[in-house]
Amino acid sequence: MSLRYLPDEESGRHHPSYVSDLCEPKVRRPLLAEMSFPEKRTSLLIQSALMRSGCDAATMETTHRYLVDAGVLPQLNALRLHCGFTFAHSLKTMELVVYVARRMGIDGSEHAILCVGALLHDIGKLSLPVSLLRAPRRLRKAEMDKMRTHPEVGHDSVSDKRILGWNAVLDIIRHHHEYMDGTGYPFGLAAPRISWRTRCVTVCDVLSALLEDRPYRPAMGRDEAFAILTEMAGDGKIDADIVETLRSGGIVGIIKNK
Ligand SMILES: [Fe+2]
Ligand SMILES: [Fe+2]
Repeated sequence: MSLRYLPDEESGRHHPSYVSDLCEPKVRRPLLAEMSFPEKRTSLLIQSALMRSGCDAATMETTHRYLVDAGVLPQLNALRLHCGFTFAHSLKTMELVVYVARRMGIDGSEHAILCVGALLHDIGKLSLPVSLLRAPRRLRKAEMDKMRTHPEVGHDSVSDKRILGWNAVLDIIRHHHEYMDGTGYPFGLAAPRISWRTRCVTVCDVLSALLEDRPYRPAMGRDEAFAILTEMAGDGKIDADIVETLRSGGIVGIIKNK
């Protein structure tokens, strides 16, 4: 297995094509037949979501290979069993990311990194009780403080992987709640320090959340959700180009208007 890491990126490099293809780790990947039944189901759900989103076969294969080589399928499976809603939210976020990547001409390993980052962005929620994740009301301050630990907890839970490109995945997990105006968490990073990949997952994460039924509010329709995204982009919180990429062209099958 490769011990090489990509260097940490600084965000001014908006075009992501500088990441070369992932190296081929020299490990034998477990066959689907060797996985436990729940893990196999998790893997198949991920592949179904990728197919649904129109992901090309090569990216599907690279994404699957990446998940297996990194050894994170058991964690994703645990997330599915812990809170199916959060797992479904992660799948939806990945589908939206695939849509953005396809429209922006991103492919190969860069596309796979985005998919893996989207799948794992909320993996830190494994450490939070379902009663908190699915609380049917606004969270109290102490509960919100606890909730806000999930980016760092998630980062730390998968930070031991030694495969090329993993730093980019870790960056997405740790910073997906940062806003470009510096009002996000956990570090209050501003635009120049938030990578393009992480901005992409952040926008898709917000949209995915707005389109979902939550215990404390019903799902929003497409127009209402995009009105909120547009306002956030106008306030300088999220990337306006990514919002526009999602808005234009109609995302049939991923977003159904009400
Ligand atoms: Fe999150
Ligand atoms: Fe999320």
